[in-house]
Amino acid sequence: MSASTGPRFITFEGIDGAGKSTQIAAVADWLRARGIDPVITREPGGTPLGEQLRELILGRPMDARSETLLMFAARAEHLARVIEPALAAGRWVLCDRYTDATFAYQCGGRGVPHNDIELLALWVHPGRWPDATVLFDVAPGTAAQRLASARPADRFESESCEFFTRVRDEYLARAAREPERFIVVDAEMPPAAVTAEMLEELAPRLGWPQ
Ligand code: TYD
Repeated sequence: MSASTGPRFITFEGIDGAGKSTQIAAVADWLRARGIDPVITREPGGTPLGEQLRELILGRPMDARSETLLMFAARAEHLARVIEPALAAGRWVLCDRYTDATFAYQCGGRGVPHNDIELLALWVHPGRWPDATVLFDVAPGTAAQRLASARPADRFESESCEFFTRVRDEYLARAAREPERFIVVDAEMPPAAVTAEMLEELAPRLGWPQ
């Protein structure tokens, strides 16, 4: 696969505290060094309405179904205004979380039926799945330690270790079912080692030597 026909929509997933943000910045730098200026965005969010929904979702207690629907409302807006136009214009898109997060958190974590999320995904983005998804895998205990030293916890970050174990298990199950899309990186390592492992896996999929 050559770089020009390689993946263009890349998503980044993992439980809270897995260290995604640092690694997304590293991928963006690595792409820029290869002459590609990616669009960097996030979910929930990425649009003015999406960011308002994010504040509600992260801040207000709500029913798991409301939470799921708001995730997809933000996503529909994000796809229509940012992701699809960028891809249509030939841009690369690096997105911090996407529908895999809804399966992991709302289905794995909260128990929303898998089929319900499948239906919403089919309705909101038929056929639009990432070309590659990097999953930063970390034990909930390690992630919790990292979060403890960060800013005040939001509604998800203050969930229990059991919740994050279910979220992690759902992510890993999805990665095992779609090994051609997922790159699972051991995020227990120091950040520089995580970056090296991620790029080592990502490069050949994009048709580049590292
Ligand atoms: P994230 O941006 O990773 O948080 P932060 O900026 O604090 O690092 O994600 C926000 C939270 O939203 C995260 O706890 C996971 C949750 N989330 C879901 O539960 N379902 C979803 O579909 C998405 C996109 C996020």
